Amino acid sequence: IQCQLNGKPVELVVDVRQSLLEALRAHGLTGCKEGCGVGECGACTVLIDKVPIDSCITLAIRAEGRAIRTVEGESINGELSPVQQAYVDAGAVQCGFCTPGLVMKTTSYVEGLSQSAGGCCQSGSHAIDRDDIRREHAGNLCRCTGYQTVVDAV
Ligand code: FES
Ligand code: FES
Repeated sequence: IQCQLNGKPVELVVDVRQSLLEALRAHGLTGCKEGCGVGECGACTVLIDKVPIDSCITLAIRAEGRAIRTVEGESINGELSPVQQAYVDAGAVQCGFCTPGLVMKTTSYVEGLSQSAGGCCQSGSHAIDRDDIRREHAGNLCRCTGYQTVVDAV
């Protein structure tokens, strides 16, 4: 398959039965994690064309011609992305197993908010409160933090 991977064109040789998670990890992108392997925990979340998906239940061949983003592409020149930094600042990372998936989910969420608000989250029509954040992140499970710090970070 040919796709954009974190902004760079790549060609990956994949088995037709291989999940995107397996293909990415085989390509050295081990940020996305396998928690449940059945679409329940969100540890494997990556973005396809800006949309968060569970890469464990997505066939790698679906990435053909698409733009894939993983947590590895979020920091630039060693600088954490604003979302990653917010997670650190809020203490929303403990064992870290869920963190790459959560970071990608949050990234998609805040970019969507920013877009719908014309570049400014504060003045948009989308209601942003802790319940909205919880709802939007409901597919990402964390065994450590109790979620409060994750919501704080978002
Ligand atoms: S590993 Fe994909 S949803 Fe749990
Ligand atoms: S920080 Fe451990 S599972 Fe979330």
